Amino acid sequence: MDVLVPAKIDDSAERAARGEGGLDTMLAAVPEQHWSFLVDLFGRYDVPLPDFEKAKRAGTSARGAGTQVTARGATELIDVSLAHPIGLIASALGTPPPLMVERAKERGVPVAALVGTAEHARRQVAAGVDLIVAQGGEAGGHTGEISTMVLVPEVVDTVAPLPVLAAGGIATGRQMAAALALGASGVWCGSVWLTTEEAETPPQVKEKMLAATSRDTVRSRSRTGKPARQLRSAWTDEWEGPGSPGALGMPLQMIIAEGAMRQINKVAETGNPGPARSPTTSSASAWAR
Ligand SMILES: Cc1cc2nc3c(=O)[nH]c(=O)nc-3n(C[C@H](O)[C@H](O)[C@H](O)COP(=O)(O)O)c2cc1C
Repeated sequence: MDVLVPAKIDDSAERAARGEGGLDTMLAAVPEQHWSFLVDLFGRYDVPLPDFEKAKRAGTSARGAGTQVTARGATELIDVSLAHPIGLIASALGTPPPLMVERAKERGVPVAALVGTAEHARRQVAAGVDLIVAQGGEAGGHTGEISTMVLVPEVVDTVAPLPVLAAGGIATGRQMAAALALGASGVWCGSVWLTTEEAETPPQVKEKMLAATSRDTVRSRSRTGKPARQLRSAWTDEWEGPGSPGALGMPLQMIIAEGAMRQINKVAETGNPGPARSPTTSSASAWAR
């Protein structure tokens, strides 16, 4: 199980999780200009508008995307995870909270953590982590920009004799062999699974991923609020464009992006005739990439 426990998130999400104003606190922290930007964007790409007001009132995306990354939300997910017979629990984006290590150890479940620098790795060792995932910038940048080739041997030397898995840009046997040569005990893959049958990736997005080349991605904060590499699309272009209000931090940007992506994918599935006017890319279906 992999539980996202970011070290830093927007304060409104923490206040909401503490029950101070509930979900409204978090939703109110999304500036009105961001909702207006979405309304304009949907109009320009001829994507029917989801009922933002209804979604805001119901707090659906806030509940899913916002509170789960708070200390309270993550604790609930850790407890649910450990109630199942799992073989490993991993913490991303910071050292695991002490209770994750304590509760996992009580149940004999090893704890892994993702790191992007040797300093992160030292902190993880001090926190009691059993397995380090050294994730290079090729993974997209959630943990940092040092490349896998440089990071893995550095982390292996830093945490020895703890085992290290190499991550970031690894999808083939040749890349796995390279990781082992760098001193890793194994590899940890992400993107390669996105196009498997078991993945929940929408079919039209899978097709785009399989057709893409290594030049077709960008690092963008438009999806989660933290930099993440993804296929370049009208969505990523628009958030970088002159009319963009700028991506918000985590988890506020997740609240915006999750609801929008759900609608964009739904529309892409049924086929979309194309942008109504002034598109920045050739097709409205590009939204779904
Ligand atoms: C769509 C997507 C979502 C991810 N979500 C998480 C996450 O919630 N927690 C986490 O620790 N890592 C997450 N990762 C990172 C993976 O666990 C893995 O470290 C990374 O994808 C490895 O790099 P690669 O994609 O180049 O194989 C995610 C990766 C992708 C592609």
